[in-house]
Parts: sequence; structure tokens; C-alpha cells
Amino acid sequence: MTTESVSARELVYRRLQPNAHVPDLETYKRMHRESVENPEGFWGEIAKGFYWNTPPTGAILDYNFDVTKGKVYVNFMKGATTNICYNLLDRKKQESDWEEKIAYYWEGNEPHDCSTITYSQLLKEVCKFANVLRSLGVQRGDRVAIYLPVIPEMIYSMLACARIGAVHSVVFAGFSAESLCDRILDSQCMLLVTADGFYRGEKLIQLKQIADDALEKCKRKKGFVMKKCIVVHHLGNKLRSGQEQAHCKVLPLLCNPDIDVCWDVLMKGASEQCEPEWVDAEHPLFILYTSGSTGKPKGVLHTVAGYLIYTAISFKYVFDYHADDVYWCTADIGWITGHSYVIYGPLTNGATSIIFEGLLVYPHMGRLYEMIEKYKVTKLYTAPTVIRMLMKFGEEPVRKFNLKSLKILGCAGEPINPEAWTWYYNVIGDGQCPIMDTFWQTETGGPMITPLPAAIPLKPGSATFPFFGVLPAILNEHGEELQGEAEGYLVFKQPWPSILRTIYGDDERFEMTYFKQFPGFYLTGDRCRRDGDGYYWITGRIDDMLNVSGHLLSSTEVESALAEHSAVAEVAVVSHPHPVKGECVYCFVTLKDGMELTQSISDELKNKVREKIGPIATPDFIQNAPGLPKTRSGKIMRRILRHIACNEKELGDISTLIDPAVVEVLFSQRCQAAA
Ligand code: WT7
Repeated sequence: MTTESVSARELVYRRLQPNAHVPDLETYKRMHRESVENPEGFWGEIAKGFYWNTPPTGAILDYNFDVTKGKVYVNFMKGATTNICYNLLDRKKQESDWEEKIAYYWEGNEPHDCSTITYSQLLKEVCKFANVLRSLGVQRGDRVAIYLPVIPEMIYSMLACARIGAVHSVVFAGFSAESLCDRILDSQCMLLVTADGFYRGEKLIQLKQIADDALEKCKRKKGFVMKKCIVVHHLGNKLRSGQEQAHCKVLPLLCNPDIDVCWDVLMKGASEQCEPEWVDAEHPLFILYTSGSTGKPKGVLHTVAGYLIYTAISFKYVFDYHADDVYWCTADIGWITGHSYVIYGPLTNGATSIIFEGLLVYPHMGRLYEMIEKYKVTKLYTAPTVIRMLMKFGEEPVRKFNLKSLKILGCAGEPINPEAWTWYYNVIGDGQCPIMDTFWQTETGGPMITPLPAAIPLKPGSATFPFFGVLPAILNEHGEELQGEAEGYLVFKQPWPSILRTIYGDDERFEMTYFKQFPGFYLTGDRCRRDGDGYYWITGRIDDMLNVSGHLLSSTEVESALAEHSAVAEVAVVSHPHPVKGECVYCFVTLKDGMELTQSISDELKNKVREKIGPIATPDFIQNAPGLPKTRSGKIMRRILRHIACNEKELGDISTLIDPAVVEVLFSQRCQAAA
């Protein structure tokens, strides 16, 4: 870091201080200390800002993290009853600007296709749909599957479930029929909400057809209790010319007359008044599936009160929310980031957000920037993979738009390499906006390790310090807690309000996955380093570690070094068996447009790694990768890359990849010298 950049960053965060909820490091430290030393007092005080139909009767936080002492459990605000939808939508009704305040700007795949939803409209639609659900026999505790594109009906459906105490299980609209079927069966959903279809860029996705396939697959299996399938007619006259063929398939929307029902027809007669169902603080709110190491997805279960409070206050502090903000989290609602920071966190705070159906590079590379300018976005939350993709197209598309409204930037989901961090900071943020690199998981509900914009000086690539209520520790493989500068397993020593309560239907797997290896700690599955200043650096998943000649290396660390080379757009590193070293480093490198992987670039890349990490980490193999196998959330599937590196054609399930075709291309270009 140069001296100028340090002082520039200093200015950036000073600029935010006068108005910030946490104005400086001292305040952060004081609040954090209180939150972990006296969680009862800390959360008890925050809970006063929400609506409780019955106040808590017992301890605010009651738990057991130690499997050797009995079942693992967490109770937050025991005895209290509430309704999360009421807290989001009805609680602020009295405020003067509530009626007309915009909750969402919705923008469709095509730039001209957009609408706005005010808080009062949102409440009405949610109440109507809640009444629809009740009329179809959905009761508290029942599971409802939601398989929709990013359209307002997605939000109405989720909040309607919450209003009547039903449990939503959103399945990302990019998942296959097979995946949808597995998820419906695993949590015995009695109702499905879906849509005819939607466009992603040029591509028409016929969602209803996939949903029908899924239901067909489910039918004869254990756990099938589906009563109704509600279909949103979203495509309307959006079908393009030349798509008549597809049109014909989409039109017979309600082709299974015994279960299919039309959203519009149901909503027409529904009342706009709907009494919320008052539920226990620990009542289940939603299930969201996330991949597990065994291949069977885990149904992560979150509960009402803890999730409400944690998403609300993390949104407020991490993005330093103010009433005039326009907030944009680019994540699909089908992921935890969408649940927490498109819906629950922003709405509880009364924020105005953007929801976007389309692709960030359609119809042109500058769509993200165009929308920032159009809506005057002040806070932007996205993923490192998005930033790296945009980097490939360079600065020119950015310069065409005015991004001066931006104040704070965020990212989540994977480690951000310093090169992408710096590009995000300098090019998108114009050196004016601090970057919140937030570390968390589907299981945690909200950020665990995260900067706060005006309080915590940044180090590119570090998620910095724990959020309120979070007490991290670093353990060695014997489960001993390491002090000071250290590297090892990242664990949490006590619960925070929005920790998952179980894996749906499988308490045993819940305990096995998170609590068995180190009793008394929640195991994240990530490795982490704490530096001399106490900053936390996530160094990658436990299973993405490389062991070269007995030295543990993080694939992320090697990737960061390679990504610093100016020719590199994206890179993934995996371990490869080696006769002498045990494992060696195999790299898949995507170069920027127009570049070619020559011998000299290959040598330069090896030198970069030698320089940044040391000779031990020098790659043995560097392969050209026109694309990388990614899940729909943008995660690179290193498991597949390990197979490719070894020329093993048995890949197992690759149905979760965005583009399975990339696998063949990578096989054809693999380094022949690798065994
Ligand atoms: C895993 C969780 C952020 C929620 C959406 C993803 C990795 C997440 C970071 C970060 C380094 C990160 C971890 C974690 N991860 N955020 N800021 N820096 N790594 O949720 O799909 O459950 O994935 O993503 O490995 O365990 P998820």
C-alpha cells in the first residue's frame, strides 16, 4: 500500500464519520465488548426497538454448544411471541412517510421494464396472498416451496408465509427439476409457487415446465404431500418473435388441473386485511438449502426472532443505513444474501432497495453502472465473482456513467483477491467508498466478520473484525485455541441470534457438521489467519487446502498471487497428486480478452507465486481455462477441477453448474504432463 492510498482511505472513512451509527474504532470496540460479555443486556436493549406480542419470560439467550453435555440448542428471547412480517411492514405504519415510501424499485431483464412498490402496496399484496394461502389450507408450520425469478411476487410469497407462520423454502430459479424435487420432498412442502417463465439476457427459461418435471419426479416418492401449484403469469406478452414454439409450450400454464391454480385469479378476490399469526420467538421462519460435503444438500433452518434482530442490526451497521439511502444487493433472492439483504434486513429498517431480474452484463457490459446512475444507488452489495467479471471488460464501460451517488460498497461469498478489491475500490468506488468485505454463511444468517464503514480501517482482502455478538477463535487441529497471530480453523465460541437452529429433519447431521469435531465451538469449515493487528483473513475452506511437501497452503492465497498478474481475469487453484511432494499446485487460468497463455506468461505467473508466497508454492501446472465450472451462486467447484487435473472422467453430479459444457473444454486443454 502506498502512502497516498493510505491517506486517501483515511479520508474516505473520515467523510462518513459525522453521521455514522458507529463513528469510530473506540465505539466499535466498546459495543463489541458489551455484546459478547453481556449478550443479555446488549440484545435485550436492541429487542426493545421491535414489536413483541408477548415479551420474553426467560433468559434472552439460552444455549448449549457442547455435544459432550447433551443436545446442541439455541433459544433466543424464549417465551416471547411476535410476527416478523408485522415487524417489517405494520410496525412503521404510523411514521409520516411510510404510506408513500418506496420499498422496491423492480427492474426486469429489459431496461424499460420497471415498476415501483411502496410500503403500503407491499403490505396490501402480502396480506392478500397470506389470505390466499390460508384459503388453500396452509397453516402455521407448513412448508411452502417458492421457485420464482426475481419478481415482486417472490417477496409477496415469502412475507405472506411469514405472516401466517408458514415456513418458506425458496429454491433458486436456476436449479434443475431434480434439485427442486429433492428439496420439495426433503421438507415435505405442501404448496409450490412458481411462474410461467422469464428471460435471463437472451435466454428464455421455461420455469413452469421445469416445475412440472420436478413434480412429476416427486410424485411417487416418500415425502410428497403437494396440494397446489400456484402459477404467476409473468411472461405475459414479453415473448420475443421467433419464440412462438416456446410460446405454445408456455401457454398451457395450468396443465395439471388437479393442482395448478393461477396467481391472478386467486388474488382477485382476496382481502387486503390479514391478521398476523403470533408465533414463538423460536418458531421456524424458513429453510434454505446449501450444499454439504456429502453431496446431499442441507436444509438450513432459521427461526423468527433471532433472524429478525440480527439481519436488522447488521444491515443498519454494516451499511450504515440512513433514510435517504437507495440500497442495491445484487444477489438473487434465492440465496441467503438475498433473503437477508434484499428482504428482511432492508425492510425492517424501512429502506428503499432495488430488485433486479436480469443479468448485470445484458444488454450491455455497463448495465450495473447504468442502474447505479438511474436509481442513484448509495450502497452497493455484490460478489467478488461479479467484480472479476466486470474487470475483464475494463474501465471504459464504467466511465460512461455517473456513479457519484455511491457511498459504501460491499461484497460477500468468497475471499476477494486484493487485485479485485483494489479495482472495486478505485474504479467503481472512485477511491471514495470503503469496501465491506463481509464473511458469513447460509448458516449464520448475517455477517460474522465484517468491517463497519466509518469505524474500522480497512486492509484489502481482510474481512477485518467480528460483528456484534460474535466471538471468533482460531483452533489448531487438536482443538486448542491459538492466541495472537495465528492460523487455523475458524470457530465461534458462543451463539449469535441468527445462527441456524438445525438442519431440517436431521439434528444429528447438524451436530456432526458444526459441533462434533471441536465440542463447545461452532465450526465454520473455513481456515483463517489473524494478523498482528488482530485482523481476520479468511484463507479458504478446509477442503480447499493444499499440502505441498508437508506445508499447508491455501488455494486462495495462490490464486491471489496469480490474479495480480495483469493478463489474468480469473484463476482457480487445486491440489494435484505428486510423487515426491505429496501434492502439488495445479492452476486453471482465465486470461483477459485477447490474451494468450504463452510460455513467457506462464513463467511470469510462476514467478509471481514465488515472489508472493515462496518457492514452495510454485505451480507445477498452469492450464488455460476459457471458463471455470461455477455454481449458480458463482462459486468455483474445485472438486471438479481436481478431477480434470487428474484426467478422471467420472465427475459425479455436475447438474448445479451454470455451464456444464465448460468441463469438456477444460478436459481438452488439460496439461498432458500431469499424471
Ligand atoms: C462460505 C459460505 C456470504 C453469504 C453467502 C454465501 C465463503 C463467504 C466470504 C468472505 C471469504 C467467504 C466461506 C463460507 N465466504 N463470504 N467475505 N471472504 N470467504 O454463503 O454459500 O453458505 O457460503 O463462503 O467459505 O464458509 P454460503
